[in-house]
Amino acid sequence: MKISTTATLSILALATTCQSWSTPHTTAFKTRSSSVVSRSTALFSAVEESAAATYADPSRYLSDHPNNNVPPHIAALVGKGLHTKPDHPIGIIRKKIQEYFASLPQDYIIYDAEDPIVTTQQCFDALRINPDHPGRSPSDTYYISDTTLLRTHTSAHQSEHLRSGADCFLCAGDVYRRDEIDSSHYPAFHQLEGVRLFPEDEMKGADGLKGEEWTASPECKAIGEDLKSTLEGLMDTLFGETEKRWSEDYFPFTTPSYELEIMYQGEWLEVLGCGVVHEEVLDMADRGDRRGWAFGLGLERLCMILFEIPDIRLFWTEDERFHSQFKAGSITKFNSYSKYPPVYKDIAFWIPEGFVENDFFEMARGIAGDIVERMELIDEFTNPKKGKTSKCYRITYRSMDRSLTNEEVDALQDELRDSAGEDLGVEVR
Ligand code: DAH
Repeated sequence: MKISTTATLSILALATTCQSWSTPHTTAFKTRSSSVVSRSTALFSAVEESAAATYADPSRYLSDHPNNNVPPHIAALVGKGLHTKPDHPIGIIRKKIQEYFASLPQDYIIYDAEDPIVTTQQCFDALRINPDHPGRSPSDTYYISDTTLLRTHTSAHQSEHLRSGADCFLCAGDVYRRDEIDSSHYPAFHQLEGVRLFPEDEMKGADGLKGEEWTASPECKAIGEDLKSTLEGLMDTLFGETEKRWSEDYFPFTTPSYELEIMYQGEWLEVLGCGVVHEEVLDMADRGDRRGWAFGLGLERLCMILFEIPDIRLFWTEDERFHSQFKAGSITKFNSYSKYPPVYKDIAFWIPEGFVENDFFEMARGIAGDIVERMELIDEFTNPKKGKTSKCYRITYRSMDRSLTNEEVDALQDELRDSAGEDLGVEVR
């Protein structure tokens, strides 16, 4: 069965807001030394593959630190290196993006074998993401210890590369965020980050300018213009000449900040966030003498649009019916293979104070794994006498590889009921 494009696109429209750092108040919203893996000519080297493989060791992510909240099913995803696989849609799109940047006059260094474990300093502080930002909370982020975590965005590597002296670079990798479960949200996905610092002589006129004086300067405006035209060129390369729209956005690490949407088959789709790198971010990386831009985009999202892949979990499947459809260098439409039937189960409970929905979603995944296709809140009410709130979730269980029996799903659902009661303090109804 082929899922219609409109259905795919409306699913994608949902995907944008949650996996973003754009607003400071969103609730749902990235060591070993990193290595320069390749220059633009050698896009997938053996070095990369082996570097990624050393990260495929779940014991690195599961510690007995009291703040470790990485479940085994997430630890098992790390190090798969999908972005380094030439015939995987994520690898195909990464390579297309790298080729575009290789066609520009600047020499972009390619990084993509950095350790997915980063520090709070790299992921947040170096980017002006304050300790009270909701994206830092353990309800949104996988912590290994107090100060180490699975990167939530590839921006986590910006400052180390800047500090090492890189002026223009791209950095791709797998990122991790605790999130809801549906066809466009998965707790692991891939991003590609780009940074360009400008030659000092082009920025002379803005020497010493800070804050609003800097953002009002012709130099800052010129950086914004270059950023926009570079990214518009990238979109035209990926999508063909397409209608685009820019709007102001907010990121703690850029000012001004923008988001880019493209018109794709009748709908506006947000494809990336970007901006002029904040002077404090450059200062903290000891590059305060330079100015430049940065952007970050989600690779799954681009692939879902371009290859018409309807479900984000498919990127992680080992099913040959998926992989046999894709070849290095070509963007081809995915033909859905037959789906096995779903099994639906509802669970209702009174929630305790401080109930964190993501804990419940994660618990279901921990118990049933990827056969949890979707978890949807279908009913919620407060009993004024008891002063308690009840929530009812519908869980769709479906395997990509086989038919599920009602008995096996019942057993999983029973385990979930028990664990939710014991560990989350809910009162199952
Ligand atoms: N890190 C942002 C995110 O995950 C994306 C992003 C926005 C990256 C703006 C950037 C940037 O480098 O300048 O939502």
